[in-house]
Amino acid sequence: MARAFKLLALASSLYCVAWAQTSAIQVSSIPPTNTSAPLLEAFVSYSIEFAFFPDFAGNSSSPNTFSNNLLNNLGALTGTKPYIRVGGNTQDYALYNASLKEATNGTINPARSVDYPTTLFIGPSYFESYSTWPGTKFIHGFNLGLGGNNSAGWETLLETVPLACRALQGGKLLWWEYGNEPDLYSTSSQGPVRPPSWNETTYVSQWLNGTRAIKSQLEKYCPDMTSNASYGYYAPSLSGPNGHLKPLLTFADGLDVDQDIKLFSSHNYIGGATQPGVTLQKTIMNHSSTVNSIAPQAALKNALSYTGIPFILGETNSLYNEGAPGLSNSFGAALWGLDFNLYCASVGIQRVHMHQGTDYRYASWQPIETNKTTLGTKPPYYGNVAVAAMLGNLVESKVQIANLPLVDMEESAYAAYVGGALKRVAVVNMHAYNYTVNGTSDVVSTVPRPVRNYTFAVPKSYGGWVGVKRLQANGSDAISGISWDGLSYNWELEKGKPVRLHNVTVGEKVQVKGRTVTVSLLDSSAAILEFE
Ligand SMILES: *[C@@H]1O[C@H](CO)[C@@H](O)[C@H](O)[C@H]1NC(C)=O
Ligand SMILES: *[C@@H]1O[C@H](CO)[C@@H](O)[C@H](O)[C@H]1NC(C)=O
Ligand SMILES: *[C@@H]1O[C@H](CO)[C@@H](O)[C@H](O)[C@H]1NC(C)=O
Ligand SMILES: *[C@@H]1O[C@H](CO)[C@@H](O)[C@H](O)[C@H]1NC(C)=O
Ligand SMILES: *[C@@H]1O[C@H](CO)[C@@H](O)[C@H](O)[C@H]1NC(C)=O
Ligand SMILES: *[C@@H]1O[C@H](CO)[C@@H](O)[C@H](O)[C@H]1NC(C)=O
Ligand SMILES: *[C@@H]1O[C@H](CO)[C@@H](O)[C@H](O)[C@H]1NC(C)=O
Ligand SMILES: *[C@@H]1O[C@H](CO)[C@@H](O)[C@H](O)[C@H]1NC(C)=O
Ligand SMILES: *[C@@H]1O[C@H](CO)[C@@H](O)[C@H](O)[C@H]1NC(C)=O
Ligand SMILES: *[C@@H]1O[C@H](CO)[C@@H](O)[C@H](O)[C@H]1NC(C)=O
Ligand SMILES: *[C@@H]1O[C@H](CO)[C@@H](O)[C@H](O)[C@H]1NC(C)=O
Ligand SMILES: *[C@@H]1O[C@H](CO)[C@@H](O)[C@H](O)[C@H]1NC(C)=O
Repeated sequence: MARAFKLLALASSLYCVAWAQTSAIQVSSIPPTNTSAPLLEAFVSYSIEFAFFPDFAGNSSSPNTFSNNLLNNLGALTGTKPYIRVGGNTQDYALYNASLKEATNGTINPARSVDYPTTLFIGPSYFESYSTWPGTKFIHGFNLGLGGNNSAGWETLLETVPLACRALQGGKLLWWEYGNEPDLYSTSSQGPVRPPSWNETTYVSQWLNGTRAIKSQLEKYCPDMTSNASYGYYAPSLSGPNGHLKPLLTFADGLDVDQDIKLFSSHNYIGGATQPGVTLQKTIMNHSSTVNSIAPQAALKNALSYTGIPFILGETNSLYNEGAPGLSNSFGAALWGLDFNLYCASVGIQRVHMHQGTDYRYASWQPIETNKTTLGTKPPYYGNVAVAAMLGNLVESKVQIANLPLVDMEESAYAAYVGGALKRVAVVNMHAYNYTVNGTSDVVSTVPRPVRNYTFAVPKSYGGWVGVKRLQANGSDAISGISWDGLSYNWELEKGKPVRLHNVTVGEKVQVKGRTVTVSLLDSSAAILEFE
């Protein structure tokens, strides 16, 4: 209690003024002419590491209702529950064992990865996990890594198609995927599964061979899933635009010759968990780091526009190798997630699947209690909710996002156009503020928390009062006590359902005066302005 009192006292007395903005940020009433096409529904989506899907979803006798509550919250905001891609590195290790009683039998080999099993068997009950989240659509990832390497891998492909297609019947299937990051197969630091000669030609021939085998199994076991409208893929799911396999060359070599690629899926990480020099402020809470990381994706998207296939990120998060403690699991990463996703939307990336795994540092939530991580909603989830709130219902309306360029790279702003009209503005103040000293939550900082004003010049017809909703916490280093618009989604309260907090102000409004509107933001916080 003493500590809570001290925090509130700090909050009221020690804010200081850091910066005075001189020119207003211009916001137009209709989308700027180069604004990207409207977003796809379920823009806010997830990718779940294949080996950990049963942790996240549970099974028929023990569904994970906490995860389901968190997905429902996002569905309520955007009109569609997040789409779930079940895949990642372990999709290419998974072998089917029909006599395995458990859903998974994974073995971690620390020399290959400390975070996920590189030897993995799945049993029939694995597929029960597709039945626990009502109204959710999935992308199931088949194993190309081993499928194109040895007979056990190929047998797994043939044996799991019937199990997966039956589990995903009744509208649960979005699309399939065959292979995760095949550009790394010949060089993977977790152990190569292809010879050095592996190139676009060999990839395309194996992908076509495998996907045709999937289709013929579907014709046998789930014939209703073979029409053009119901059968297709997320592909090529490369680790990035400039890896060992060049995405444009895979298309030139005929990857889509069967015309079954429904979405062009690319992967992205802003940096690496153990990369030298990675910090919260320089790498994560940094708009230029996002812009630089996304530039090659945006260029690839433009180069692929001739195909007419929508471009998405099928797997992404802050730092590869599952994130860094103190960085990827902090409130700073939630602010990054808001900036990153809105920036992706602004360049025309039409859906983003944030990658998750049990004990992953960047995870939006920990679905089960383990000896490494407590069960619970983690800061990045609050960033996901803020993205969903900024986009609003994508089923009812066409939504476009425009980036409002700012000079300072530790902040960003966006406008949301709904049905072609300005509806919301988001501001993300990513200047780091530590509320604890030297990264220890025992010693509370006495450094005043700066506050900055952001002034927007709004169109003539936008007068009166503007609603303000905030994403906040005690500082960028906070790993708990996060709120979005006065709501907590924490496990401890209502198992992930929204709960109104009584210590956070809501219903705030600011007034348009002389065609401008100003909002004040504490360092390390974000706000969304809602025009009437
Ligand atoms: C920020 O805005 C508030 C309220 O409009 C005002 O009182 C304060 O002086 C402003 N600060 C700066 C630095 O402009
Ligand atoms: C398959 O599962 C059964 C039952 O757990 C086990 O006895 C067998 O060794 C497993 N096979 C492999 C290849 O792991
Ligand atoms: C279902 O999940 C529960 C809880 O994790 C577990 O105890 C049980 O073994 C699982 N059932 C199967 C068939 O894997
Ligand atoms: C799990 O896999 C390991 C490694 O392949 C194997 O030794 C063990 O027997 C398997 N356990 C079961 C229950 O299948
Ligand atoms: C299978 O993977 C091994 C490495 O584990 C590699 O040496 C071999 O070339 C691969 N075989 C094929 C057919 O890709
Ligand atoms: C891939 O390698 C094969 C020979 O191993 C060659 O015929 C083919 O042209 C190469 N493809 C590309 C895209 O370099
Ligand atoms: C497809 O791949 C399987 C497994 O490697 C192989 O047995 C089969 O011959 C391949 N088919 C073609 C047409 O390449
Ligand atoms: C649109 O043009 C503005 C001004 O040149 C630029 O800052 C922005 O990046 C462009 N947006 C897109 C999506 O290309
Ligand atoms: C932590 O849990 C894992 C997985 O259940 C287990 O293998 C490991 O031995 C446990 N470690 C400790 C220190 O208890
Ligand atoms: C916050 O704390 C971390 C860890 O002690 C430190 O590296 C960083 O520089 C601090 N940031 C600020 C803005 O004080
Ligand atoms: C924080 O780090 C500084 C510089 O290393 C040190 O002087 C100070 O005593 C530390 N404070 C706490 C509370 O650990
Ligand atoms: C508000 O209350 C929640 C839940 O009790 C707590 O976690 C959080 O730290 C509080 N926030 C502030 C600013 O005191």
